[in-house]
Amino acid sequence: MKIGIMGAGSIGSVLAQRLSAHGHHVKIANSRGPETIPADVLATGARAVPAADVAADVDVLITSVPLIRVPDLKPLLTDLPADAVVIDTSNYYPARDGHIAALDRGRVESRWVEEHLGRPVVKAWNAITAQSFVAYANPSGTPGRIAIPVAADDDDDRALGMSLVEQTGFEGFDAGTITDSWRQQPGSPVYCTDLTAEQIPAALGKAIAERSPKRRDLAMHIIAELMGDPTSDLGKDFLVRVNRLIYN
Ligand SMILES: NC(=O)c1ccc[n+]([C@@H]2O[C@H](COP(=O)([O-])OP(=O)(O)OC[C@H]3O[C@@H](n4cnc5c(N)ncnc54)[C@H](OP(=O)(O)O)[C@@H]3O)[C@@H](O)[C@H]2O)c1
Repeated sequence: MKIGIMGAGSIGSVLAQRLSAHGHHVKIANSRGPETIPADVLATGARAVPAADVAADVDVLITSVPLIRVPDLKPLLTDLPADAVVIDTSNYYPARDGHIAALDRGRVESRWVEEHLGRPVVKAWNAITAQSFVAYANPSGTPGRIAIPVAADDDDDRALGMSLVEQTGFEGFDAGTITDSWRQQPGSPVYCTDLTAEQIPAALGKAIAERSPKRRDLAMHIIAELMGDPTSDLGKDFLVRVNRLIYN
């Protein structure tokens, strides 16, 4: 498949490495230009291109930028083929993105993204930390393999998202429609807690819409405080341990 990736940060870079290693034709862009994308991101065959070129002639476009930057992408999508599937990895963090009124009122994050991109999206790879994404890729059948929830309104698009998640080393879990995707947003029990496919249904089921944003902000506060303290011994899987404690 021909895949464009908009965003070459913690998540976009790993997606480019894994999906090109799997045999896809991958191009990747950031906001500063192809020459700024590190060589290791391109080591398995992905091509660095200007942001204006990433959407043209692709089967799949993955958007992986800070949520507040999503509206900037619309003018870059004029050449995106009408039948290309858009997969978005973004999450809303007010501490990073500033307060976005619609999201503060409880709007589903991916619906806001869809409005700003002008396209339906598949929500995938949003609910795994960058650290776990790098460290815990495993082949299908590995005991305890981590699963990643994938939501989309279109069944075929969701199945495609799940198969691409699978190709990046994680089990793709069918999490239903975008309307229900608030269940995998920051602060929910499934969010960045490294669960298996067997554990995910219970986690999605016990999500509480009003509670998740409060827990998200509480966790971010604690994480920022601890990470800013040079005397803290955070240890392995620190983020996942904090998330499991607070989001459960
Ligand atoms: N980090 C995580 O643990 C994690 C996990 C799951 C999901 N997510 C979500 O996934 C998204 C990406 O996260 P990340 O951690 O990979 O972010 P990141 O490391 O901050 O990287 C963001 C990337 O987006 C690019 N970008 C920003 N504005 C752009 C624009 N207008 N056009 C083209 N490229 C643009 C940046 O390019 P420049 O550097 O050139 O500006 C950079 O390559 C976020 O929404 C985040 O919430 C993150």
